[in-house]
Amino acid sequence: MSLPVVNATDDAPYEDPLDLMDEIEELKKEKDASILAHFYVDGEIQDIADYTGDSLKLARDATQVETSTIVFSGVHFMGESAKIMNPEKRVLIPDMLAGCSLAESCPADQLAAFQEQLRSEGREFDTVAYINTSAAVKSLCDWIVTSGNAQEIIERVPADRDILFVPDQHLGRYLMEVTGRKMMLWPGSCMVHEVFSIQGLIRAKRNHANSQVIAHPECPQNILEITDFIGGTEKMRQYVMSIAEPTTFLVATEAAMIHAFEKSAPQHTFVPVPGIITATGETCACNRCPHMARNTLQKVRDCLRDESPEIEWQDYFEKARAVLDKSLLK
Ligand code: 13P
Repeated sequence: MSLPVVNATDDAPYEDPLDLMDEIEELKKEKDASILAHFYVDGEIQDIADYTGDSLKLARDATQVETSTIVFSGVHFMGESAKIMNPEKRVLIPDMLAGCSLAESCPADQLAAFQEQLRSEGREFDTVAYINTSAAVKSLCDWIVTSGNAQEIIERVPADRDILFVPDQHLGRYLMEVTGRKMMLWPGSCMVHEVFSIQGLIRAKRNHANSQVIAHPECPQNILEITDFIGGTEKMRQYVMSIAEPTTFLVATEAAMIHAFEKSAPQHTFVPVPGIITATGETCACNRCPHMARNTLQKVRDCLRDESPEIEWQDYFEKARAVLDKSLLK
């Protein structure tokens, strides 16, 4: 499957992917490094990675890595979490500018001010943060969830505490529905999952008789209402693997995920759900995350070779570490 090219910021000269893969293999040995790759990065990076997975599995894998260096191919908060959970290891990321629209939607100073306001009103609450947040935000929170363990963590919050859930309003709304817990929701959203076209999805369902829709819980309610299976990336992967009968799946998540689906369940056909229709009548290429797309084989090679960019330890990581360990490892 060919994916739209959205990483227009790079004008690196073309290099043969096979040569790059060989170079990366050599550098991994020389630098004592392991590569972790999220399901949303290009398939060729997933293929050379030592560990692939969703946010939850990769955060846990990072604590099992035996090499002294981790290259985290994903976005900034993922590399940051790997560093927080492994202070003694060197954590490199291929591009420091690979951010996250959700993390950006919840600046730490704004969260701290809102928490202060709630406390001054006498509210007793736990703050539950999606892992797609900065370390500074994590250090202000009581719990961290990923799409893979969110329901279980919400159920661990004592019933007499209110919950402030940050920053994804759509995931928060979905969690309120499945857990029955009322929560205060921060008004953030993911730029990829926010823009699936409901009209495009309905049309795709019509064009693919007997297809099933699978969607990430970061999608808005109108998409989830016509979805057959809702789950984070690993849960969706397990679901398609559990179905033996060749099936067409309409996929409402980042389009690079289709690489992992095709590898795990090759009997099926996977069709990306289109993004919104633009003013010129074309479909946007926004089902690719421009931040994830900053990860390229060249940059994986470069960061290994140059041992940079590196995630540096910050004082507030210590507080974030306690919250991450309690939420993801216990
Ligand atoms: P997962 O929990 O499925 O890895 O989701 C990560 C993510 O960032 C979705 O946008």
